[in-house]
Amino acid sequence: MKEYKNYINGKWTDSKSSKRFESRNPSNWDEIIGIFPDSNEEDVNLAVESAKKGFKIWSKIPAPKRGEILRRAGEILLRRKREIAKLMSKEIGKTLTEAEGDVQEAIDTAFYSAGEGRRLFSYITPSELPNKYALTFKRPIGIVGVITAWNFPIAVPSWKIFPALLAGNSIIFKPAPDGSAVGSIFAEVFEEAGLPEGVFNIVFGYEAGKYIVEHPDIKVIAFTGGTETGKIIYQTAAKYLKRVSLELGGKNPQIVMPSANLDLAVDGVLWGAFGTSGQRCTSTSRLILHEKIYDEFMKKLRDRLPELVVGDPFDPKTTVGPIINPQALEKIKKYVEIGISEGAKLTYGGKQLKDGYYSKGWWFEPTIFENVHPNMKIFQDEIFGPVLSVIKVSSFEEAIEVANNSRYGLSSSIYTNDINEAMRAIELIEAGITYINAPTIGAESHLPFGGVKETGNGYREGGWTVFDIFTEWKTVYIDFSGRLQKAQIDTWRE
Ligand code: UN1
Repeated sequence: MKEYKNYINGKWTDSKSSKRFESRNPSNWDEIIGIFPDSNEEDVNLAVESAKKGFKIWSKIPAPKRGEILRRAGEILLRRKREIAKLMSKEIGKTLTEAEGDVQEAIDTAFYSAGEGRRLFSYITPSELPNKYALTFKRPIGIVGVITAWNFPIAVPSWKIFPALLAGNSIIFKPAPDGSAVGSIFAEVFEEAGLPEGVFNIVFGYEAGKYIVEHPDIKVIAFTGGTETGKIIYQTAAKYLKRVSLELGGKNPQIVMPSANLDLAVDGVLWGAFGTSGQRCTSTSRLILHEKIYDEFMKKLRDRLPELVVGDPFDPKTTVGPIINPQALEKIKKYVEIGISEGAKLTYGGKQLKDGYYSKGWWFEPTIFENVHPNMKIFQDEIFGPVLSVIKVSSFEEAIEVANNSRYGLSSSIYTNDINEAMRAIELIEAGITYINAPTIGAESHLPFGGVKETGNGYREGGWTVFDIFTEWKTVYIDFSGRLQKAQIDTWRE
């Protein structure tokens, strides 16, 4: 077990706080992965001073050269992929295969961002006046505060950190407490990659997030987490006119229509609803089945549910790992009780696993509720666990209406072999991402990622859309006429 320090100004730095917290293995709660400072306001202030210094240097380095350092960071992650994945499986309980995917997503983002160093396109447009150029540049903003959830402890921070750095900003990163050891890897990677001191800083803890959001010199907040916290961050940051990018909750539907390949749709549910134990913001939590295939689909699904093996994330046979911590487990248990009391029919799972191997960690059976109605809480609320609500509908229109009956709008999926139905679903489903004949999870790093409604505030990570978060436009007019030309007033003549 290791005692960690904050990473400020290129050095592992003692916290000014005397408070500490532990990150533990959710499969075996007795195992402490690390002890971390619960950083305070003074720590954030120190990180800000460091990031200011870092910004001065980094923002002046040409973007293609910044990209080269990010490419080196990607190469280091690639070299360390297996080792980081193992730490991740221990610290947050993701199966080793999924953990490797998590690291790969960061590698992809590093290489993508590195390439953008030689693009980072802006535009030139004709001026309304002769002998005058009108052009634009994307400029770095300053210090970016990155606050993330535990469930993708490498991939999700990387979606923010790599493009923010490429754009020339400096970073203060607060990893989720439960994923702090994995989060600390970024400091090692950037140090080895040769990032100048002060450009990337880490403060660990809980309340440090508040100080980051409230610090007037941190100009951008990039947050992934719950909708309620996101709203508080947005409101607080508004006082300082900060730019805030929010990636919040989801309640993602998978629709299955009569023309669908049902076996494929079952594959989609097993992976989409129960992969990562349902602890993804993109997890499938509402399964909307057309009545014509309801019984046949549910039979096929039931026949294959034994494929879900809950257990040791290091065992290659395991498909469902533990629940991150006791609070998350309690929330899932509470929602199962609520579902039962609301009158939904619990047809699979529903219990905590605590015997034998399971006695040391936090485990929950893959769980299915049928006869779910859209006005039930289990239909509406994000549970963030392996709990699937199944709803029967009698038409395509009803399926869409049910899918859209949500305050969230992140991911969505429809299984159908009717081309018109598929195209109409793309038009009609209110979500940032729609999959056709594929599950709700599986976003790739070079496409926009984000959601509508209460899932976010309009920004998109991934792809080049991410630079809307991390850059400021500079507009430049160059007049080479040698005389005073008045826009809107002068009429062009020979
Ligand atoms: C998240 O759960 O916060 O599409 C991100 C996916 C992953 C990313 C999930 N590539 O499920």
